Amino acid sequence: MEVVILAAGQGKRMRSVLPKVLQPLAGRPLLAHVLASARSLGARRICVVHGHEGEVVRSKLDAPDLVWVEQSPQLGTGHAVLQAVPHLSDQAQVLVLYGDVPLIGVHTLMRLMDAAGRDRMALLTVELSNPVGYGRILRDGAGRVTRIVEEKDATSDERRVHEINTGILVAPAARLRDWLGRIGNDNAQGEYYLTDVIGLAVGDGMVIVTVAPDDVSETLGVNSKEQLATLERTFQASMARRLMDAGVTLIDPLRINVRGELLCGSDVEIDINCIFEGRVELGDGVVVGANCVLRDARIGNGTRVAPFSYLDGTATGEECVIGPFARTRPGTVLANGVHIGNFVEIKNSNIADDSKANHLSYIGDADVGARVNIGAGTITCNYDGVNKYRTEIDDDAFIGSDTQLVAPVRIGRGATIGAGTTLTRDAPPDQLTVSRTRQKSHMGWARPVKKGE
Ligand code: UD1
Ligand code: CA
Repeated sequence: MEVVILAAGQGKRMRSVLPKVLQPLAGRPLLAHVLASARSLGARRICVVHGHEGEVVRSKLDAPDLVWVEQSPQLGTGHAVLQAVPHLSDQAQVLVLYGDVPLIGVHTLMRLMDAAGRDRMALLTVELSNPVGYGRILRDGAGRVTRIVEEKDATSDERRVHEINTGILVAPAARLRDWLGRIGNDNAQGEYYLTDVIGLAVGDGMVIVTVAPDDVSETLGVNSKEQLATLERTFQASMARRLMDAGVTLIDPLRINVRGELLCGSDVEIDINCIFEGRVELGDGVVVGANCVLRDARIGNGTRVAPFSYLDGTATGEECVIGPFARTRPGTVLANGVHIGNFVEIKNSNIADDSKANHLSYIGDADVGARVNIGAGTITCNYDGVNKYRTEIDDDAFIGSDTQLVAPVRIGRGATIGAGTTLTRDAPPDQLTVSRTRQKSHMGWARPVKKGE
């Protein structure tokens, strides 16, 4: 099987500099969704027919299994497929998809291909209560498809037909080439219609079978931001259903967005307004509070992420407590039982078992041992404006509040750092290290008074 994806349309109604097929749905370009479906069907070759912004699309989505074909000018869907035909092998069954119909399902397409077999033509059609704007499927008295008529070319009788053409079809490549060579553009839009192929195929004695999609939303196209938002919701609703079917508790399935892959263990609970990006894994019993963003994260069993936390490129062990208002950046690795509290930022750091940084800290490029307590306002000064340096804090250290650790620096096992210290040299194990001017009280000192009073 080989696939042709039509993606030459400009998408003017999106009112965007971004080509329509690159507009994101669930965090990925529309065309990426279609490519993923084509690939999971095991397509041997995928031709993408693009228009004048083709280079932008190509640079974003190019891959070795893709053939990019430019269609310029754009003279209709039949003309578009014709541009791809020289790249198709004669014996192949060809599946035509649309770059702006992103939710087409693999299961539906498998049924369509099964129906087409090795040498038939199969159309994906659907009955719509309001078929206005679509091509209509015309059948003879015995119910056999005879041709498709476009809305603009249809008689008022033909417009009463509710079965419409989704545009998605399967046809044998060699025959398709022949029929496409014979279609004209003598119609209301002056275009070469792919749909005119059906009448020619019937004339040649071809059997045309039709298949309905599992769900109508699979055949919906995106022409405007409103339609994009509608399909985003459809996608997210089905994602939420899948999660709940797998046992995940969603406090409100209308308020979750998954923009990538979300894998959940048992008894996971997700509160409202959470966004999951990239690949996120939540272990058994993980609780994610309201308004969290998790991106490329692996969260261990029993860990709780409290509201308003943003975890990116982060792995945690079991039974950690994170947030509220925590921010972890790529390279954050937390072991088991770690507590990260509010307004704590962590980057490129390892924190071992049962260590805590509960308030207002920046921990960057650090290796923190086990059972370390990091007081409020502790900052690793990891950057001298040119280079980054590491901070090492060994097991059982206690870092007092409002401390600056000027890297590279090491704090020994069991060391205590007094509050307010600016640590510029290593602190030995088991000792108190303080750098602080001695406290003084001034006897007889009086507050100034306002002049003239
Ligand atoms: C097409 C079908 C119609 C069907 C409808 C379903 C034809 C003639 N009509 O109509 O029967 O009900 O889709 O939505 O096929 N494209 C190109 N190059 C072109 C023209 C279009 O690549 O020269 C691409 C567009 O980017 C789009 C797709 O083909 O992704 C469909 O084109 P569009 O103009 O939207 O087709 P319709 O007129 O809606
Ligand atoms: Ca059109």
